[in-house]
Amino acid sequence: MSSYRIGGGIPLNGEVQIQGSKNAALPIMAASILRKGITCLHRCPKIADVFLMQKLLQQLGCETRWDNSCFFIDSRKARNSSLHNGGKATVSMRSTITLLGALLGRFGSCEMEYPGGCVIGARPIDMHIQAMSEMGTEFVMKEGSFLANAPKLHGADICLRFASVGVTENILLAAACAEGETKIVRAAREPEVDALCEYLSCIGCKIWFGDSGVDREIRLMPGELTCSEVEFTIPTDRIVAGTYLFACVGTGGTIYLKGAQPKHLEEPLRVIEQMGALTESSVDGIFVKAPRNILAQHIITGVYPEFPTDLQSPAVAALCHAQGDSMVQETIFENRFRMVEELNRMGADILVRDSRAFIRGNRRLHGRRVVARELRGGAALVIAGLMAEGITRIEDVHYIERGYENICRDLRDLGARISIE
Ligand code: EPZ
Repeated sequence: MSSYRIGGGIPLNGEVQIQGSKNAALPIMAASILRKGITCLHRCPKIADVFLMQKLLQQLGCETRWDNSCFFIDSRKARNSSLHNGGKATVSMRSTITLLGALLGRFGSCEMEYPGGCVIGARPIDMHIQAMSEMGTEFVMKEGSFLANAPKLHGADICLRFASVGVTENILLAAACAEGETKIVRAAREPEVDALCEYLSCIGCKIWFGDSGVDREIRLMPGELTCSEVEFTIPTDRIVAGTYLFACVGTGGTIYLKGAQPKHLEEPLRVIEQMGALTESSVDGIFVKAPRNILAQHIITGVYPEFPTDLQSPAVAALCHAQGDSMVQETIFENRFRMVEELNRMGADILVRDSRAFIRGNRRLHGRRVVARELRGGAALVIAGLMAEGITRIEDVHYIERGYENICRDLRDLGARISIE
């Protein structure tokens, strides 16, 4: 199993191109099977979760190929089949839930393993099941898997108890092939949902957005789904860009994030400016200059456009160097502070109580051998390694490679001493 070796204590400086978005690419890959046609995705990230989704699409009979950073999916010969990962219901099987709505839309039925929980939380699918049931799906629960049958998928008015990204996406995917209009009340506002809607419009759906000021409404009316080839460009990954923003602030450098979209990072940019950073945004990227002294913060994660849960761990790492004590509260997932144990082994002084992390400031981090336990917590350990004096080795970096195309290449572009061992 490979690991990263980081020589810390060097401010990041330079320019880096931001990759395509993992959380936009996955639902759009699922949407590609809604019709019999070819989809060409530009800027599709070459990451483990995309490769797994590619394997699942191939299990369904799709033909796929890469041509530079363009990923082609030909779904004309797609057929229904139960999805498996060699019987290993591992963390990577959670991608299958992203296919639920598309499989019901295209084939009217599906069988899949329970996606299972992961380090950051139980990851229940009750809301997915409830929403699909309201659209005419019957579920048969089995040991470790379930059967879903929707012989006549129909539109519905669905009010979500929580603005879930994945549930919003599954409803949209099923609605694209359902009989009649679907309305989602308290739909997720994440940019990745907008990207999926843009793709669904490209293949023939009619979509309207409404906003009651508190809740977002999305209405989708299915149309004649086009069978001609559709080209689509995946937006850049706001979480990868945000990770590098906090790495810059934590190490004290000056960087330019090419392709980062400021409008997708308003809250993280507000927070790093409050930390003392200088930022400048343009249509093709974000410039950021770290402060000499980082100001302590109180951060509470929330659904978009609040502070994203996926940037909580990177922010915690950067705040270890703040002048003063900070607090970060996690409101989306129930167990997203697993990286704290490793950060404390590097010299941080962080106390986790319930859903809050209390971070002592003015700490000097020192290099250690640490272990990544999940995607964004692993990225936080990379940031801590860049900030620390001495050498840090990070094990189990496959978690990080689920979402970062090549974090070593990107950080070396920014002057970091990081290599794969
Ligand atoms: C998506 O996960 C992202 N994943 C996550 O990114 C991201 O953290 C999350 O949205 C929040 O922005 C992808 O897009 C592939 P949710 P999702 O449903 O859809 C509860 C990363 O690091 N819930 O919006 O699973 C659940 O318990 C990953 O890139 C139910 O209770 O997130 C949790 O508390 C991590 N029942 C919360 O919602 C359900 O049926 C998760 O929010 C579904 C969800």
